[in-house]
Amino acid sequence: MNPINQLILSVIRLLPRSVVRRFAMRYIAGEELDDAVRAVRAINSKKMTGTIDVLGENVSTREESLAAVRECEAVLHSIQKNDLDSNLSIKLTQFGLKMDEEFCYSNVKRLLETASGCNNFVRIDMEDSSTTSATLKLYERLRSDGLANVGLVIQANMRRGLEDVQRLIPMKANIRLCKGAYLEPESIAFRNREEIRLRYLKLLRTLLEGKCYVGIATHDDFLIGSAYQYIHEMNLAKSTYEFQMLHGVRTKLRDQIVDRGHRLRVYVPFGQYWYAYSIRRFKENPQIAWYVFQAIFSRS
Ligand code: FDA
Repeated sequence: MNPINQLILSVIRLLPRSVVRRFAMRYIAGEELDDAVRAVRAINSKKMTGTIDVLGENVSTREESLAAVRECEAVLHSIQKNDLDSNLSIKLTQFGLKMDEEFCYSNVKRLLETASGCNNFVRIDMEDSSTTSATLKLYERLRSDGLANVGLVIQANMRRGLEDVQRLIPMKANIRLCKGAYLEPESIAFRNREEIRLRYLKLLRTLLEGKCYVGIATHDDFLIGSAYQYIHEMNLAKSTYEFQMLHGVRTKLRDQIVDRGHRLRVYVPFGQYWYAYSIRRFKENPQIAWYVFQAIFSRS
């Protein structure tokens, strides 16, 4: 991390939690499930769908993983009970991926079965590169075991992205395509902004041509404009893709996308681990820390 970003992060760490909370809550629905329900209800009222994420990752005990499964099941039941238009996003390290892959598999399988009973869908987020191969392997196993209500994420900054996409196309995987939030070594990832954009577009075209359902997850005007162009050129039905954006980010752009008649899904994280999560995200992506820093000091 460069010294300026290091400094920004240090200042954020010195601030009282209550101050950081005010700004972290721009990106997070709240600490309780009810907060996420309220956020998704508001999103649905704007003709957008949601995907709820229970904050937490890298758990170190089986008990914590099982608690996460129960919490995610509660989310699925609550979506159904409240008649929300939302699915669920999960992180495999919250389900024990780093402790025991078999245990993680059984946790995710159980969750997908609950989701299926609620007529819902679960998206597996992609975490840092230490988990990519295991995540893909687990996803492929779920699909080959006949579990279809599950999708995956591909990160355009990863050099392996195209190979992974080609592996996923034959199974018509439902893919969220994003730039990638984790700082990875140059040997395995693109670091240059323009290179990542070009790669994103290459992967997007490949997935759309491969007839995969794509969640176009970005707030980048250039990528969104290019996606509109592909959709037009390929004469794609609105039911074959959706745009996706993070809670609290570029809300005007969200409205414009919906006004153009495209589907749009908002990623809604909630939970008690918001502080650790926010600090980790700030570290992984100093640009986010900069947004928070600016927000704090422009308003105070
Ligand atoms: P970029 O960062 O260039 O942002 C474009 C513009 O959007 C910025 O100039 C700024 O104006 C605005 N903006 C972006 N982020 C902002 C913020 N936090 N606050 C304020 N303004 C902001 N990554 C990953 O590795 N694994 C995953 O599973 C996911 N999942 C995921 C789901 C969804 C729905 C989204 C939208 C994103 C992810 N990501 C992710 C994160 C993704 O990889 C990426 O880090 C961010 O989306 C930022 O990249 P953009 O494409 O938005 O471009």
